[in-house]
Amino acid sequence: MSWKRKHILGLEEMTADEIYTILEKSKIYLDQIESKGAGSNSEELKGYNAVNLFFEHSTRTRMSFELAQKRLGMEVLNFHAVTSSVSKGETFIDTIETVSAMDLDVMVIRHVKPGTPELATKHTTASVINGGDGSREHPTQALLDLMTIWLRGKNFAGLKVAIVGDILHSRVARSEIFGLEKLGAEVILVGPPPLIPGDLSRKGIEISHDIDEVLDYVDVLYLLRIQRERMAEVFIPDEEEYFRTYGLDRKRLDKTKDSCLVMHPGPVNRGVEIAVDIVNDKKSVILEQVRNGVAVRMALLSLLLKG
Ligand code: CP
Repeated sequence: MSWKRKHILGLEEMTADEIYTILEKSKIYLDQIESKGAGSNSEELKGYNAVNLFFEHSTRTRMSFELAQKRLGMEVLNFHAVTSSVSKGETFIDTIETVSAMDLDVMVIRHVKPGTPELATKHTTASVINGGDGSREHPTQALLDLMTIWLRGKNFAGLKVAIVGDILHSRVARSEIFGLEKLGAEVILVGPPPLIPGDLSRKGIEISHDIDEVLDYVDVLYLLRIQRERMAEVFIPDEEEYFRTYGLDRKRLDKTKDSCLVMHPGPVNRGVEIAVDIVNDKKSVILEQVRNGVAVRMALLSLLLKG
């Protein structure tokens, strides 16, 4: 398919064809990285400029965007809200218009407020990529997760994916659900009732409040981070209790299929969502997700700027 989209704001609006186009292009970059390492760096996007605007903390998303941009030969600027004029009262729109006046081609934006990347598109001619907006969407995380599942040889049609934990506050869960359903997978949401939003349960998605019910039949166990920073109320009074009722320990892992993939977007709260000794288990693909993220972001930059 020929690529038309100028911005990557979420997976809700994306088609299955677009998702497969991204996965196939990502695979080409991943193969290049794996066969040539640093020698795979190119000048494909030489002459293009990118800015990574992070109004909220990040390790994986920010670094892998920067690496992807540099691997494609782009000039890269990094903006951190805490050291910028935001601390002097500069508004979000003023920041976007100021940065845009410097003739940037791509803006990657992470912000605590849902909808800010879309708002930015109205104040810049640059392509905007959502690096995570509040609890709304985190499309590049979901795309790298889909790529990880796909590269492990899984067929999305009928694939059973349990998303476990703090679904209410999770932009990753929302993007994941949109993407998986578009590709034909079946999603089961698992967590305590206060952490499963009503709008998702109404849409016909299977819900369980008991992780032990789903272990023996799911193909993917996707554990979410407990997002302490987004919890205005005390949804989980005791992390030890959460680990006992929803955490993945060795006993639970042993009940999953041999082929089951354990995934987590990171950062992991060790001993809360997952036992320390399981983070690097052979069923865990957590670091593969991170690795694939660079290739996915290269693919997105190339598609947005070159089609
Ligand atoms: N998964 C994810 O978005 O991680 P960071 O917050 O470290 O970017």
